[in-house]
Amino acid sequence: PESNSGYSYEDCRATADWLMAQTSVHPLVGIVCGSGMGGLADMLKDQVAFNYKDIPNFPQSTGVYCIFCRLVVPGHGRPCVCMQGRFHLYEGYTVQKITLPMRIFSLLGVETVILTNAAGGLNQDFKVGDIMIMKDHINMPGFAGNHPLAGPNDDRFGVRFPCMSDAYDRDLQQLALDVGQDLGYGDFLREGVYCVLGGPSFETIAECRMLHKLGADAVGMSTVHEVVVARHCGMSVFALSLITNKAVMDYDSEEKANHEEVLETGKQRSSQLEKLVSTLVTRMDYN
Ligand code: 6GU
Repeated sequence: PESNSGYSYEDCRATADWLMAQTSVHPLVGIVCGSGMGGLADMLKDQVAFNYKDIPNFPQSTGVYCIFCRLVVPGHGRPCVCMQGRFHLYEGYTVQKITLPMRIFSLLGVETVILTNAAGGLNQDFKVGDIMIMKDHINMPGFAGNHPLAGPNDDRFGVRFPCMSDAYDRDLQQLALDVGQDLGYGDFLREGVYCVLGGPSFETIAECRMLHKLGADAVGMSTVHEVVVARHCGMSVFALSLITNKAVMDYDSEEKANHEEVLETGKQRSSQLEKLVSTLVTRMDYN
């Protein structure tokens, strides 16, 4: 194989240069909004938005936008780049395509990536509407070789064998807990392990039981690929899961996972999730 990304370093550089030529914003924070959480993007002021389909080398997709902006919370402007919608394995994109935006972020100068997602709760203490700070992950597709860093390594991005035991920045996790307390979100703010699967079908009961036994608190179809690539190129990572539904764990249950419930919960908690992320960004210290 020639390249591990389908995109060379030069391709990524060209995309980053194209974007930088069209905005004066030099983003230090990159944000990826999960399903139902795109409202975060509406908080961003002074936006320059790009349709993904117009960005060179970006996976083709309609109706999703990459936005350069300053996240403005009264008195605190922070230069950000925000993706309102991401790419998923279940849409048929390769795991290399899904993660291309992380390399672009890095080349734009982004130092910290914040990702959100919708997830099913496996931890029996979790309730629908809880916000889980990701402290770790289980990369199930990665076990099977469907890994974004499989293939030749380009050292300009990062090392051949990147460490993942420190994938989720501890200081940002603590800061998010503090911010959550200050905002009065303590009752629904949790921490846990997220397991990614390929989707698009939701899990069987046996699969949910297995994942729970393996140590996962939540299950979803995104984020982990991006985290791996973001860490590979040296960015700090913070990620949140909105628990939009409880994964079905027993045969007596009448519940069925469905996309409408996922989106509905997203809507209900979205303003708090947005507030948490925006406050976190304003309170992060970076140089
Ligand atoms: Cl229950 N499973 C998966 N794989 N993804 C989800 C989910 C469940 N709920 C939201 N996203």
